[in-house]
Amino acid sequence: MEKETPLVEMRDMQKAFGGIRAVDHVTVDVHAGEVVGILGHNGAGKSVLMKMLSGAIKRDGGEILVNGQPADINNPRDARDYQIETIYQYLALADNLDAASNLFLGRELTTPLGFLDDAKMEAETRKIMSRLTPNFRRYTTPVSGLSGGQRQSVAISRAVYFNAKILIMDEPTAALGVEETRMVAQLIGELKKQGIGIFLIDHDIHQVKTLCDRASVMKNGKLVGTVNVDEVSEDDLLGMIILGKNPRENAA
Ligand SMILES: Nc1ncnc2c1ncn2[C@@H]1O[C@H](COP(=O)(O)OP(=O)(O)O)[C@@H](O)[C@H]1O
Ligand SMILES: [Mg+2]
Repeated sequence: MEKETPLVEMRDMQKAFGGIRAVDHVTVDVHAGEVVGILGHNGAGKSVLMKMLSGAIKRDGGEILVNGQPADINNPRDARDYQIETIYQYLALADNLDAASNLFLGRELTTPLGFLDDAKMEAETRKIMSRLTPNFRRYTTPVSGLSGGQRQSVAISRAVYFNAKILIMDEPTAALGVEETRMVAQLIGELKKQGIGIFLIDHDIHQVKTLCDRASVMKNGKLVGTVNVDEVSEDDLLGMIILGKNPRENAA
């Protein structure tokens, strides 16, 4: 595992806004089938770091490697070419359309004669969504009637259908209740099994302990450290977030 080439490596990433060093020489990576938590207080630089990977923010410095090769990511389209997709807390779904229409929004399937192939789109949607969320039934109702967790499943299914290899999840459960959160957690487990690498921004330390393999903690734009979550306690993680203290440093 250690020697395997990471799926994504972000090296020495930098981004400043005016005088604020939002991301200050940060290096993180994720392997295939791994979930890496990105932790830190509000303003620590988590979203800016991830937006440099999704192409939404242009980096000032640093290097992004995908499968060990330098990746030229300057906009969201570039990121998509590298099979990088982002799942946001507040989902960009079209409320009045059903799951299938949302899954294929902007990338509709057509018949050989050029008509929308609704039957094929619904069949494909059922195939992918039943794999990820076996209990989902509401394929033909507008997504406005779906719960937060079900909406997350539509967004995640969309990313997976279009071959995402790398998922960025920016607080995917922040707006969800307990049951819904459990459903998204289960989905994350499924995605791992499929070999997708996930960067997960999450405030809930307990959830990080259960969902993530490693955690990279940021404070004031800098990387405090990266740890295997099995080797640290929840208090260790809190110490990293609040005090910027790496538990490895006081072990000696
Ligand atoms: N588009 C922007 N313009 C100016 N400053 C920004 C912008 N985006 C983020 N910042 C600043 O960069 C720092 C890191 O923000 P962010 O990455 O969003 O933090 P968080 O860890 O909460 O996700 C903050 O000080 C924030 O105010
Ligand atoms: Mg953020």
